[in-house]
Amino acid sequence: MSIKKGIILAGGSGKRLHPLTLSISKQLLPIYDKPMIYYPLSTLIIAGVIDVLIICNPGEDILFRKLLGDGSQLGINITYKIQEKPEGIAQALLIGKEFIDNSSCILILGDNIFYGQRLEEKLISAGSRSGGATVFAHEVKDPERYGVVEFDSSGKAISIIEKPLNPKSNYAVTGLYFFDSNAHEIASSLTPSARGELEITDVNAEYLKMGNLQVEVLDKTSTWLDAGTHQTYHESSEFVSLLNKKNGINLACLEVEAYKKGLLDKEQLRDVTLNMGDSYYQNYLMQFLESEQVD
Ligand code: G1P
Repeated sequence: MSIKKGIILAGGSGKRLHPLTLSISKQLLPIYDKPMIYYPLSTLIIAGVIDVLIICNPGEDILFRKLLGDGSQLGINITYKIQEKPEGIAQALLIGKEFIDNSSCILILGDNIFYGQRLEEKLISAGSRSGGATVFAHEVKDPERYGVVEFDSSGKAISIIEKPLNPKSNYAVTGLYFFDSNAHEIASSLTPSARGELEITDVNAEYLKMGNLQVEVLDKTSTWLDAGTHQTYHESSEFVSLLNKKNGINLACLEVEAYKKGLLDKEQLRDVTLNMGDSYYQNYLMQFLESEQVD
């Protein structure tokens, strides 16, 4: 059985993207043709999530609601909670206590973009594990920017350290975490790090200590982007645009992903499409519907 609950952390000050994010949430900025939050939301839908909690900054929930509403147009439930101050990713597990309600959940960062042919398979398999936590690692050139996982010679994860000065590997832990029902309790026991945050890496390190952390390496056929700096933000748009233009792939088309998961039937997809403004996005959905032979 896959995990049905997912949290998107769309808070944070977005300082690294100033002045772009002075007046708007980072996760609402466009990545090519869609707001950034579409990408992590589509990843959750692909993973099988149907209940979504979006955690955002004070005053910004109204904007996310305007964009995504209660999720019914996608056949899912979306609720919203506020993170009063950006005090770390692990805080999402505290803010989400009622939402999580002692079950397993997936946490994804609002600026993380995933793409890969075999991604769905990997997500489903991570979600069907019976306990513990699963994280995904990806090889990067600048590991010091991330949580870094160290492996022993047999490929077993042996340490996980947040933004190490001397990284023990080039494998960054991506912002996608599958947790069993213990995550809230582990997050509750954390103390803030030197940068004043409740670190998600500390939650993962605790699972590792208990022998309950699975690290899945995303190989070179997968792409992972953290759109949190001007450079990676730009690269993310470039990547999505190239996929679209060269391969005809419309990454993070939420309605199509919801349809593929059976959350919307053809009639519902058609209704949602007809209710949209005349746009490239609507045209794409129309064409998709035609290819599905809907009359
Ligand atoms: C955060 C996490 C880090 C992870 C990264 C992925 O970093 O703390 O472990 O590798 O997200 O995007 P931050 O965005 O806080 O720099």
